[in-house]
Amino acid sequence: NRWKMRIVLVLGTVSLLLCVKPAEAQFPRACCTVEGIRSKQCCPALGSNPANVCGSLSGRGSCRALQVDSKPWGGPYRLRNVDDRERWPTKFFNQTCRCSGNFAGYNCGQCKFGWTGPNCDQRKTPVVRKNIHSLTSEEIQEFLDVLDVAKNTIHPDYMIATQHWLGLLGPNGTEPQFANISIYDFFVWQHYYSVRDTLLGPGRPFRAIDFSHKGPAFITWHRYHLLSLERELQQRLTGNENFAIPYWNFATGQSECDVCTDSLLGGRNPDNPFLISNQSRFSRWGVVCNSLDDYNRLVTLCNGTNEGFIQRGMVRRTNMSLPTMSDVRSCLGIREFDSPPYFTNSSFSFRMNRNALEGYEKPDGELDDTVDNLHNLVHAMLNGTSSLSHSAANDPIFLVLHSFTDAIFDEWMRRFVPSNATYPDEMAPIGHNRDYNMVPFFPPITNEELYVASDRLGYSYAISLDDADEGAVFVLGSTLGGVFVGLLVLLLIFVLYLRQRRNRGFEPLIRADFTNRKYTEEA
Ligand SMILES: *[C@@H]1O[C@H](CO)[C@@H](O)[C@H](O)[C@H]1NC(C)=O
Ligand SMILES: *[C@@H]1O[C@H](CO)[C@@H](O)[C@H](O)[C@H]1NC(C)=O
Ligand SMILES: *[C@@H]1O[C@H](CO)[C@@H](O)[C@H](O)[C@H]1NC(C)=O
Ligand SMILES: *[C@@H]1O[C@H](CO)[C@@H](O)[C@H](O)[C@H]1NC(C)=O
Ligand SMILES: *[C@@H]1O[C@H](CO)[C@@H](O)[C@H](O)[C@H]1NC(C)=O
Ligand SMILES: *[C@@H]1O[C@H](CO)[C@@H](O)[C@H](O)[C@H]1NC(C)=O
Ligand SMILES: *[C@@H]1O[C@H](CO)[C@@H](O)[C@H](O)[C@H]1NC(C)=O
Ligand SMILES: *[C@@H]1O[C@H](CO)[C@@H](O)[C@H](O)[C@H]1NC(C)=O
Ligand SMILES: *[C@@H]1O[C@H](CO)[C@@H](O)[C@H](O)[C@H]1NC(C)=O
Repeated sequence: NRWKMRIVLVLGTVSLLLCVKPAEAQFPRACCTVEGIRSKQCCPALGSNPANVCGSLSGRGSCRALQVDSKPWGGPYRLRNVDDRERWPTKFFNQTCRCSGNFAGYNCGQCKFGWTGPNCDQRKTPVVRKNIHSLTSEEIQEFLDVLDVAKNTIHPDYMIATQHWLGLLGPNGTEPQFANISIYDFFVWQHYYSVRDTLLGPGRPFRAIDFSHKGPAFITWHRYHLLSLERELQQRLTGNENFAIPYWNFATGQSECDVCTDSLLGGRNPDNPFLISNQSRFSRWGVVCNSLDDYNRLVTLCNGTNEGFIQRGMVRRTNMSLPTMSDVRSCLGIREFDSPPYFTNSSFSFRMNRNALEGYEKPDGELDDTVDNLHNLVHAMLNGTSSLSHSAANDPIFLVLHSFTDAIFDEWMRRFVPSNATYPDEMAPIGHNRDYNMVPFFPPITNEELYVASDRLGYSYAISLDDADEGAVFVLGSTLGGVFVGLLVLLLIFVLYLRQRRNRGFEPLIRADFTNRKYTEEA
């Protein structure tokens, strides 16, 4: 039973908490105009010269017709042409900048993740995401301060749509329905938009649709989401190119939230256990996009209005506890990324792993048909903003939680080095096919582009979940066949030694728990 409870929590933290149940489209300011929407062309100029469309004058890119994934999807959403997120983003734009080389961005003014330099031709030294508990007080201060700045700074480049696609120009067709939003709330809104229901009419939502959960895109979507915010924080708000979002190792097996303190993400308010203590700046953060039922009833979208304060109801029942490192290890033991039907009832895969990671099955990959109970139970247990996926990103815990979830995925990638083909290219739920553009990101980016090791995207984790070193030496030892091979082994041992030394600076907590033997036994 304890085990069950623990699974509940795994499911909870990683799935519910991490956003399972429900919380619209944003576009570059330059394209949110009557002409932009009517022409369905979003190819802004780079810089002040209007002729420099997509940076074409400097060879960065050009304006092209958009190609989108046309493979069949599976899953419960069987309607057609009623949701504005189908064939994203073609309901809104069918011509966008196509950037050459490593240029990227809606006007080709940025580099792809993982690249830097004026011509985007230098590999970026990966920034290091560290354990929030191992940050210096200056680093903590920088993190908390920059979140506050992001919460209070209007996004300079993007606006949010406040009506769905047919109403996007207002009743007279002359007033674009877009609103300004802060950089942090933009992040919240993106998450809401990806999980919101299909609006079929007043009070007639179609709910069985989710572009960022309950399928393989859970991993790639959240990865891009976090990476995009991290870049805003680096380039725009801290001016520190090395800034990285920390992670919260929630696999403590405890029943306490150890980042819920006033010096970190906010302690409990003694006067109201569902609110954050007024000693924490986060007690003053307003939430947005929380009133899903209202939006469904009014057939409208979240417009970024403040809807109250962050609520937390972290676990008070003493017999429930957070996942353990052993749960994480079990999840990492699964080789297959995902399996048909690539939905919540897939089993034995890393999406299986993903699914195990996302939290719809036991961490060892076995499908548990009581997940609905678990789901609801965890839902009730977490009882707060984090437990509602349309709203979850309002709580800054979301960042550190997803950072750790992504770290586990990254370790899995390094362990199994999966080819692109292991990511389903068709029959996953809508939004989850390999070549589908992730909703609602703009410019368009596919799931596949994020299915690569983190260092290629310009970040890494100061955490070692790697336990392969001894095994590698053993295998080599047994194939030792001559002086040449012997030398090779020496060389390798030296490399491994260097690596070990490097690892020494890493998070010891995790490494200690990941001995090779234990891991193999459980697998
Ligand atoms: C793009 O959309 C415009 C406006 O609806 C339409 O006239 C044009 O034919 C579309 N182009 C493509 C390639 O679909
Ligand atoms: C729409 O146009 C009509 C007639 O031009 C005008 O009276 C009305 O105020 C306009 N509505 C809006 C919302 O702009
Ligand atoms: C959004 O903010 C910009 C300046 O930050 C302002 O010029 C513009 O009028 C605002 N738009 C809306 C719809 O509020
Ligand atoms: C903060 O909370 C404490 C106790 O809960 C209360 O006494 C105090 O007045 C509050 N301070 C503010 C600024 O609201
Ligand atoms: C924003 O949405 C809320 C409800 O979600 C509504 O009450 C409010 O009038 C809207 N604001 C604008 C400017 O449309
Ligand atoms: C844990 O708590 C739940 C709900 O209060 C209860 O049903 C369950 O029996 C408890 N489990 C154990 C092992 O005490
Ligand atoms: C998985 O769930 C979907 C939707 O509920 C259902 O249509 C499908 O048959 C299920 N597949 C399996 C293998 O259980
Ligand atoms: C939190 O718990 C209270 C009391 O158990 C319940 O009434 C409320 O609906 C819960 N809130 C959420 C968001 O689950
Ligand atoms: C896999 O995807 C990456 C990123 O889109 C791409 O660079 C690479 O060429 C792809 N590999 C194969 C074999 O398709």
